[in-house]
Amino acid sequence: MDKIAVVDFGGQYAHLIANRIRRLKMFCEVLSPEILGDVFKQYKGIILSGGPQSVYSEFAPTIDREVFALKIPVLGICYGHQLMAYSLGGTVEPAVTKEYGDTKLEIKKHSKILDGLSRHETVWMSHGDEITALPQGFEASASTPNCKFAAIENPKKKLFSVQFHAEVTHTKSGMRILDNFLKICKVRRTWSIAKFIKEIKNKVRRQVGSKKVFMMVSGGVDSTVGFTLLKKILGSRRLFGLFVDTGFLRLNERENVMNMFKNLGHAVRLRRTQAHMTRRPPEADSNPKNIMCYDASKEFFSALKNVTDPEIKRRIIGDLFIEIQKKVVKKLKLNASHWMLGQGTIYPDTIETGGTRHAAKIKTHHNRVPVIEELIKKNLIIEPLKDLYKDEVRWLGEKLGIPREIIWRHPFPGPGLAVRCICAKKPSYPKNSASLEKKINKLLGLYGFDGKILAIQSVGVQGDSRTYKHPIAILGKGDWRTLAEISTKITNKFGDINRVVYVAKPAYIKSVKLNPTSLNEKTIAILKNADAVVNDFIKKNLMVFDIWQFPVVLTPISVNSSDKFSIVIRPVCSEEAMTASFYQMDFDLLGKLAESLMEIPEISAVFYDITNKPPATIEWE
Ligand code: XMP
Repeated sequence: MDKIAVVDFGGQYAHLIANRIRRLKMFCEVLSPEILGDVFKQYKGIILSGGPQSVYSEFAPTIDREVFALKIPVLGICYGHQLMAYSLGGTVEPAVTKEYGDTKLEIKKHSKILDGLSRHETVWMSHGDEITALPQGFEASASTPNCKFAAIENPKKKLFSVQFHAEVTHTKSGMRILDNFLKICKVRRTWSIAKFIKEIKNKVRRQVGSKKVFMMVSGGVDSTVGFTLLKKILGSRRLFGLFVDTGFLRLNERENVMNMFKNLGHAVRLRRTQAHMTRRPPEADSNPKNIMCYDASKEFFSALKNVTDPEIKRRIIGDLFIEIQKKVVKKLKLNASHWMLGQGTIYPDTIETGGTRHAAKIKTHHNRVPVIEELIKKNLIIEPLKDLYKDEVRWLGEKLGIPREIIWRHPFPGPGLAVRCICAKKPSYPKNSASLEKKINKLLGLYGFDGKILAIQSVGVQGDSRTYKHPIAILGKGDWRTLAEISTKITNKFGDINRVVYVAKPAYIKSVKLNPTSLNEKTIAILKNADAVVNDFIKKNLMVFDIWQFPVVLTPISVNSSDKFSIVIRPVCSEEAMTASFYQMDFDLLGKLAESLMEIPEISAVFYDITNKPPATIEWE
């Protein structure tokens, strides 16, 4: 079978490239750069991914130079672009103007890799270095206003490379470029979801053997598809699902999820709480219920009392999940040596925690805490979706007959509303905050806007690393194009600011104070209310399918008062969560939504997040 190698230089791009290549029905594998040149001979093409380092730095990952002499087509992207040039005798230096975001590409000469593109194209950049001199035999085929060598090639040797990220959707003709590369590689394309299903059935049967699978379900797309797939392969009697109410679920989510599973044909125990847990193991039941609900909200609230650090929150939630699993397994008298742990982990979950060797650590997902990783090492975990991306999971779900409204549910993070409630005991400002705010306001003045740095931190990804920086709230009048321009300018120019929010309400700001906040039933109840207002609103106004995900975040920022909160609404468009652009809601609708949120007595302001990913992440923590 023909296959393509994608070499992973860190960050998150290698897997995104692999996902794109698979969409082109081509099988591919992600490889580590240490692999020797000879191994690459079995591939029909080699793609060198982006990565967070500088090729000239001491510990930068590199590749066996032999790769470029194998006569196999090579495509370098971003870091791969610079590495190819650098390895073959070109020069790479810090860029005069670092580029993050959309830019205009101008094609200078006909090239097989850029075949079919218009003379001017929108491409997406994220780089701090640039090629300043080409290696011998190479020529430039395209440039951007800030990057002379945006696409270079040595067609005789079948070596091509681009500075921009061809794999992200923001690069409009990115798929065309990857498709052109596959044409250059002259491959047979045979990968498909149907093929995946066939292979996964055998894999699961082999891995599970005669055991049974115990799985935590959340009602989200991944665990629902994973659980339903396992049911199809193993049957209900060898599968037991546990739904834990952490207290951080959406309003009425527990009832909604259990009803959904019931409608999907699973045998459900409704409204079972800790006190009602059966003493009999499920296999002893004549009419086995294969999903049960456990109310752990008290345990979660008590474990998280006074915790404000986002990563500690995640760690505590992850560990408690495992504790609860253990407790339930004990209570149900499941014999651990006869059971395995099923998980709905998908590919991005493994990437974003450094699942591959060079991936920069982006997040500690609850399903990748050390305890779980230990179970994986002992091979006691079954993750049937771990090689799939979100879009592929959805296609699989459709093939399994899961209704559309479930397949297209917005993703919801495992730690739930806990990571959408920003906690802080005291204000946190960037260094020299007053002079920074002054500088930003000088820029904002050109657009007729005013800005106020918010005394909290939120997470972002800048140049492929994870950073906790500060948001700025801007007040004024402008269309989405202007707001998008302002947002990109601020985050590109001022490193301490990684998010820009537009003040949807109130109309004026007299004072902004920090209202010390921690995780408790009261704050979560306010957030649940706000989240329900937003969800009802987008359903009524038919926005659900246009928006990929819609976090609603409670922040400890009190505007024109001292003991209230503010809400950030963060609708984004994305395909796989690795990159995202903020959704541009109709302004009248936004006004109505903000008014409804302001009716919640504890809310003093509504902010609309106008930052793309990168530089900001989708979630605020
Ligand atoms: P970010 O915020 O990194 O999120 O842009 C990317 C996607 O991952 C989801 N997410 C999580 N999912 N546990 C999860 O199961 C988590 O801790 C977690 N954090 C973020 C997020 O909602 C988005 O879809």
